[in-house]
Amino acid sequence: MMFNQELINQIRVAFPRAVTDFTGQKRAFFDNGTATLVVDKAAEAEAEARINCSANVGAIFAESKQAEAVIQAGRQAVADFLNAPSPSTIVSGESATSLFFNLSYALGKELTGRENVVTTDYEHYTNISPWVELEERGKIQQLRFSKLNMEEGTMDMEHLQGLIDSNTKIVTVTSASNMLGTKSPLEEIGKMAKEVGAYFLVDAVHHIAHGPTDVQAMDCDFLVFSGYKLFGSHGSYLYGKQEHLEALKPFKVKPATNIPPGKYEWGTRNQATFASISGVMDHFHWLSDQIKSQDGEKYGLLGEKKRSLRIAMDAIEKYEVGFSKSILTGYDDVPGLLDIPGVTVFGIRDVNRLIERDPTFSIEVDNIPGDEIAQRLWKEAGIAARAANFYSYAQDVYNQPNVYRISLVHYNTHEEIRIFLKALNEIVLSKK
Ligand SMILES: Cc1ncc(COP(=O)(O)O)c(C=O)c1O
Repeated sequence: MMFNQELINQIRVAFPRAVTDFTGQKRAFFDNGTATLVVDKAAEAEAEARINCSANVGAIFAESKQAEAVIQAGRQAVADFLNAPSPSTIVSGESATSLFFNLSYALGKELTGRENVVTTDYEHYTNISPWVELEERGKIQQLRFSKLNMEEGTMDMEHLQGLIDSNTKIVTVTSASNMLGTKSPLEEIGKMAKEVGAYFLVDAVHHIAHGPTDVQAMDCDFLVFSGYKLFGSHGSYLYGKQEHLEALKPFKVKPATNIPPGKYEWGTRNQATFASISGVMDHFHWLSDQIKSQDGEKYGLLGEKKRSLRIAMDAIEKYEVGFSKSILTGYDDVPGLLDIPGVTVFGIRDVNRLIERDPTFSIEVDNIPGDEIAQRLWKEAGIAARAANFYSYAQDVYNQPNVYRISLVHYNTHEEIRIFLKALNEIVLSKK
């Protein structure tokens, strides 16, 4: 069973705010690129951990031991989700931004000022500013930006290859652009980095909810994502190869452990955050049970939990390709973005290449500012999305500082897309 109507209904029950907001207003939540709604299992587990094991770890009494168990289970759940070899490779932090800065400080200690860092023109600033800091402090010689194929919003792989040389110490890319929706060819980029002995870093924050993320398949050295973009609470996770986590010297207070992952973690952990991410994984396990893939071959080498999570994320990815197609081409009675006059769609528009993008669409409409589109779609059709600066460097590159963006996840529906397209079409027509 894939995503049939019965399953879609069940998924929407699992997200208490999928249909209406807290005031009871019906709306289509399309602001998922900014933060997703929370799944019931994550919120319940978080509250339970908050109440039952609020004690700090390291003591002999039950609440403290339970807090430790919850944290360890959360690390294991994240490791399973990423196909990481062990929970000791999972570091937690306040946000993806804080984890990137933390990592950049540790990597910076290894650098001599002669090296370069290579990134891309469609990164979130989280994956730019830490390297600019290193450049400004003379820790690296240059931060290099790989160009895009502007028309289709994809990475210019030839240009990227040309930027990487024997002085490249870090190649760092997003797994998908939070403005364009474009996915990066991570395995290929990883190989380029490895050829010159550079670290390969991945910002998985945007893509994380939209499909599988496998750190062993892409052979990355580090990868970061955030729980609030994945149906859970705030709090973020960094995967690092065990040998790197052991060798690097992060900024830390002296009495804190020197053993990873703890040596990278600033201050006391929030056990409720770990409970939340375990709850998210329980949702995916439930989803996987509903789907029950027969594709034993493909998943043969993975253990039970990893296999179950992969089945869920593969199914989500496939389902979301259908969203992208409908957003672009519409339905029998409603034109899609490609056919609404005056609408410019950024990113991949070729319907045969939709597996190369997430259902995140930034658009520009002739003569209608992004804020007006956002307001009218909200008021007239209950579409919850925004025009904003999403901290994407691509917005600078495309000169779109305040672009209107929708981003869909697996609790959204085709009915919501139809409402969105109908309303947008009417807004455009009313301006003619
Ligand atoms: C691709 C990408 N990277 C990083 C971030 C920042 O994440 P955090 O708020 O956890 O620092 C975002 C947030 O929008 C993002 O989309």
